[in-house]
Amino acid sequence: MQIAIDGPAGSGKSTIAKLVATKLGFIYCDTGAMYRTATVMAKQKGIGYGDEAGIMAALRDLDITFKPSAEGQLVFMDGEDVTLAIRQEETTNNVSQVSALPKVRQEMVRRQREIAANNDIVMDGRDIGTTVLPGAEVKIFMVASVATRAQRRHKENVEKGIMTPVATLEEEIAERDRKDSTRAVSPLRKAADAVEIDSSNMTIDQEVQTIIELVNKKRLKTQNK
Ligand code: CDP
Ligand code: CDP
Repeated sequence: MQIAIDGPAGSGKSTIAKLVATKLGFIYCDTGAMYRTATVMAKQKGIGYGDEAGIMAALRDLDITFKPSAEGQLVFMDGEDVTLAIRQEETTNNVSQVSALPKVRQEMVRRQREIAANNDIVMDGRDIGTTVLPGAEVKIFMVASVATRAQRRHKENVEKGIMTPVATLEEEIAERDRKDSTRAVSPLRKAADAVEIDSSNMTIDQEVQTIIELVNKKRLKTQNK
């Protein structure tokens, strides 16, 4: 079974996707982490974020792997732990430029389908229901207001000692929404058969439960066919 969870930055995708995967015993694939890793690679190698040929030349042989750990999922780039680097502001503010490059997307989609091929999976991102796994049995489109999402990021930041004002976070989130929704290749868009969940006024538990119920319904339907 494939579960696709898409939505804008801070809508709660990865939090919910991880919990749903654990509950169901499925693997979890964070596609945003893959685009973030490509962005860190470009920075490290001094390749411009818009240099498609340069990024592709380096990306072809780049190994991006995930490893579960007690503190959450770790991300490795050619064996180097980039779990923290991919969440830095420099990466966050430039990832949309890298992810808009058509050849980069093509390569990532190929890798993501490979990961999904032999596993029950929960995959989250922007184009999972529309492009990566169009046949996914359950598709979720998560939304929340910009204000709610900025407040959530602020709370996470404060816990890490980062004091970026909420107003700046709102601007950054709105800008990333704009870039991710307007790019030419597989923009952020709700799939026609996706269920929209507005998480603004829902608890994490309520969201997880809503998705588990959709999965159970789907399983019943398939069994009765
Ligand atoms: O966690 P957050 O919502 O901030 O972002 P993310 O899921 O880590 O994704 C980071 C960036 O990668 C997004 O802003 C998109 O530009 C890009 N992305 C994408 O283009 N397609 C995906 N399937 C996943 C992420
Ligand atoms: O992956 P994405 O960027 O969509 O969002 P996330 O990183 O999973 O969630 C952003 C923050 O919102 C996290 O700190 C979650 O704990 C929080 N969250 C929440 O407060 N209420 C929800 N219903 C869902 C997520």
